[in-house]
Amino acid sequence: MLVSAKEMLNKARDGKYAVGQFNINNLEWTKAILLTAEECKSPVILGVSEGAGKYMCGYSTIVGMVKGMIENLHITVPVALHLDHGTFEGAKACINAGFSSIMFDGSHYPIEENIAKTTALVNTCDVLGISLEAEVGAIGGEEDGVVGMGECADPKECKMVADLGVTMLAAGIGNIHGKYPENWAGLSFDTLAKIKEEVGDMPLVLHGGTGIPDDQIKKAISLGVAKINVNTECQLVFQEATRKYIEEGKDLQGKGFDPRKLLAPGFEAIKAKVKEKMELFGSVGKA
Ligand code: 13P
Repeated sequence: MLVSAKEMLNKARDGKYAVGQFNINNLEWTKAILLTAEECKSPVILGVSEGAGKYMCGYSTIVGMVKGMIENLHITVPVALHLDHGTFEGAKACINAGFSSIMFDGSHYPIEENIAKTTALVNTCDVLGISLEAEVGAIGGEEDGVVGMGECADPKECKMVADLGVTMLAAGIGNIHGKYPENWAGLSFDTLAKIKEEVGDMPLVLHGGTGIPDDQIKKAISLGVAKINVNTECQLVFQEATRKYIEEGKDLQGKGFDPRKLLAPGFEAIKAKVKEKMELFGSVGKA
């Protein structure tokens, strides 16, 4: 069964750890993440960008795949299926398809429009028991062709959006998607502390989890971050493991490039990466 992210994030906030959101792109990634969560006895959030949603045939296919895996792999830990950086239309489509958690990213709209659109989704999500993530202050880097500037969110605007009744809030604190540049100044903990002061108990979300030094991750958790998103790091290890397999000419050993064998090293690499992150975020054993 899929669950809303609300309870797992409230527990994480109270217990001073974070639940990982790992983005999925295909069956192998999904299976690797679910099996690792079960092995680690950790709650988990599966993130789906709109681009990945299209790639995997559409949102109903994903709901069917994930629910099927939970049953067939005997997954007992809490699993939330979450739209990552959704548009307003995408959010509605995922709600209809049976996602248990939604992010509406209105950070590129003027704050009034972000508030109006987020408000329109709060009630629906509430009635259906779906968790809702809102965003204030665009996260930098590139996500499905959308490039943000890595802003620091205005703490007062964060409060305005948190007060709408969303489940969790993603607020820009100098974090960006993808690899961080050499001259990156690090997370703005001043901004994070001010946001926390304004939003009180609201679980905060840290996007761009790839490449943030471990000590900054831990400090962010201590200041109220309860959900951390990771995507690029999984892509990098998956790509590297697959490249190595091909370069080592494993097909020459008589098995051919059977897609199941070709993708197996990447699958194992994702499992190892997800476990490493769950240990760092402190969610192991928290299911
Ligand atoms: P990274 O790709 O930097 O890990 O960020 C993932 C993310 O924040 C998805 O929303």
